[in-house]
Parts: sequence; C-alpha cells; structure tokens
Amino acid sequence: MRTPLVIGNWKMNGTLASARALASDVAAALPQLAGVEMAVCPPFVHVPAVAAALSGSALALGAQNLCEFEPGAYTGEVAAEMLLELGVRWVLVGHSERRALFGDSNERVLAKLRRAVACGLTPVLCVGETLAERQAGHTETVVDAQLDAVLNASDAEALLPALVVAYEPVWAIGTGETASPEQAQDVHRYIRARLAARAPTLAAQMRLLYGGSVKASNAQALFAMPDIDGGLIGGAALKAEEFIAIGLAARARLAA
Ligand code: PGA
Repeated sequence: MRTPLVIGNWKMNGTLASARALASDVAAALPQLAGVEMAVCPPFVHVPAVAAALSGSALALGAQNLCEFEPGAYTGEVAAEMLLELGVRWVLVGHSERRALFGDSNERVLAKLRRAVACGLTPVLCVGETLAERQAGHTETVVDAQLDAVLNASDAEALLPALVVAYEPVWAIGTGETASPEQAQDVHRYIRARLAARAPTLAAQMRLLYGGSVKASNAQALFAMPDIDGGLIGGAALKAEEFIAIGLAARARLAA
C-alpha cells in the first residue's frame, strides 16, 4: 500500500502572520491524520517562520520551486542547499504556472530535478495538459513529453526512486473545475503504465497525486481511485479546516 500524500501549495499568498497561523492549525490536527503524509509549501520568504511553527510536528515542509544551478551568481534565485538547511524536504518542480509564466521548459525541469535529488530533497514533478491540448486529443502526448524529459535522461535511474508525480490538468487549476475521478484516474493509470514500462517495481511504489481544484467536497471520490495516491492542493490548502478535511479524505484510502 502506498502511503497517501497530501501537499498544500500556498502559491504567492498570505502574510507572515497568516502563514504561521495556518501552519500551526494544520500541525495541530495531525494526530487525526495518522497514516497520511502531509506537507505544506509556503512562499520562500515564509519558510523560516513556518519551519519554526512546525518544529516538533510531523507536518513536513516543502518549497514551490528551486534554482537549477548550484549556489553562485544567480541573482534572485534560491538553491536546493538553502532550502535543505531550513528544513525543507519536498520541492515542487515544473508546476504549470512556472512552465507557463516563468519559462520552466522540460529541460529546465530536468535540471531542477537533478539539483533536488542531488541535495536530498524529494521532488514533485508536475505534469498536465491545457484545455486546448485536451480538446485536441493531445493529453497523452503532452504528458509523455513531460515524463520523457525525465525517463529518457541518462541518469533516470538515480532520479526515479526519489520522485513523486503530480498530474495537474491546467484547465482544472484554480478554475473551480475539477477533472472527474474517472478522467483523473485514466491519466493516472496511463502515467503509471508509462513509468512501469521503464521501471516496473518503482512504478508500483511511486505516489501519483492529482491536483486541480481539489476541495473537501470532491477529494474522497478522487482519492478512491486506484492510481490516485493523494493530492496537490492550491486554493483549498489556504484554509486549515478545508486542508485537514482533504487529509481525512486521503486517510479513507487506508481503510479501502
Ligand atoms: P488549485 O491549485 O487547487 O487551486 O486548483 C492546484 C495547484 O496549482 O497545485
């Protein structure tokens, strides 16, 4: 059984005070969520305050991005080593907002994955198609290209064991429109089969998350699908009660 995993992506939201409060409120609920791995990804500048608020808690800390280069002259960037030193364990790589707005190409995503793995951070590789791509019937081609960037890398053997993959259809992110559990499962099954063609044992163990307008009200149906091991949660992760309810929905997988 793969351990259910729920990660909150706070994006560029909140104040120092709200970040601290949200982290503490989620951490306080963790005893109810035994058996589910939970993590939160605050904005970089809030990471130290959230780390302090989580001290002693099993709620893990993640980051939303990292630089693809080793520490050096890269103005405005944040290195994997710096995140690790602050207690960060997870890092999102290739989120669709980064791909669409900040030029994170498949090549750069691979470079970021390499840096994350080299430093011992666990990367969450985000993949997913736009609405136009889905309507044109290109969902699998798009996901293939995003996965192949990693699967065909010369060092894929080193990268794959550390990886979590999040399938996030771009048309469902922040739109309130969620993929139906069946639509999401279809792509998750496809992703696991693609991974299995390369590394069968790993593919069976690898956690695949769904992201895109997951809420407390739709989480349980999504997480009931055989290949959906949890979620990457944006808007609903900004409310402690809602995020905890999503964690509880993931916990129901343990009983299934
Ligand atoms: P959303 O965002 O839950 O607000 O749709 C998900 C994500 O971008 O990871």
